[in-house]
Amino acid sequence: MSKPKRKRKNRQSEDQGLDEIPRLPKTKPLQLRYYGDPVLRKKAEPVQEITDAEMTLAEEMLMTLYATHGIGLAATQVGVLKRFLIVDIDPEDADYEPLMLFNPEILSVEGESVAEEGCLSIPDLRADVKRPEKIVVKAMNDYSEDIQIEADGLLARVIQHEIDHLNGTLFIDRISGLKRQLLRDELEKIQKADRPL
Ligand code: NI
Repeated sequence: MSKPKRKRKNRQSEDQGLDEIPRLPKTKPLQLRYYGDPVLRKKAEPVQEITDAEMTLAEEMLMTLYATHGIGLAATQVGVLKRFLIVDIDPEDADYEPLMLFNPEILSVEGESVAEEGCLSIPDLRADVKRPEKIVVKAMNDYSEDIQIEADGLLARVIQHEIDHLNGTLFIDRISGLKRQLLRDELEKIQKADRPL
């Protein structure tokens, strides 16, 4: 998910050089897949075991997340159909460890909230999305441990947005038909845009 526009702490953080972001891995960012790419509509496969390949993917995805100023990224968005996502809702805070979730599964939901979302794979388009306010998620972390996370607010929203990606669902699928109709031209433009590889 891309960073919510209204929640930026200050203008400075936007212009911050990548070298100032803590924990930046030493790998190159991966190529993002954009709206219109069929891979974004595919269902990702469970990860059986965390091997070096998964750890490399995790590092590369973190690099990609920070390079694009995102706060969440699913493996699907870099063309890898594995059930894996990363979330870092506060990249400038070194004390906040990025979440790395393999095979995430929502166990329960509570409440309802509406907030604006954007997506790194659908640049420059934002819309209000209704989702459960609180969630309990189980997953395997990058140490192969089974974990459970209770989340609410922005964290809950980002995790749900990224789990959607693993199922081939985009946030635009969750907005009303009428609103989506209004966004149709913008979506078409995004789909046809020339992007460097
Ligand atoms: Ni997204």
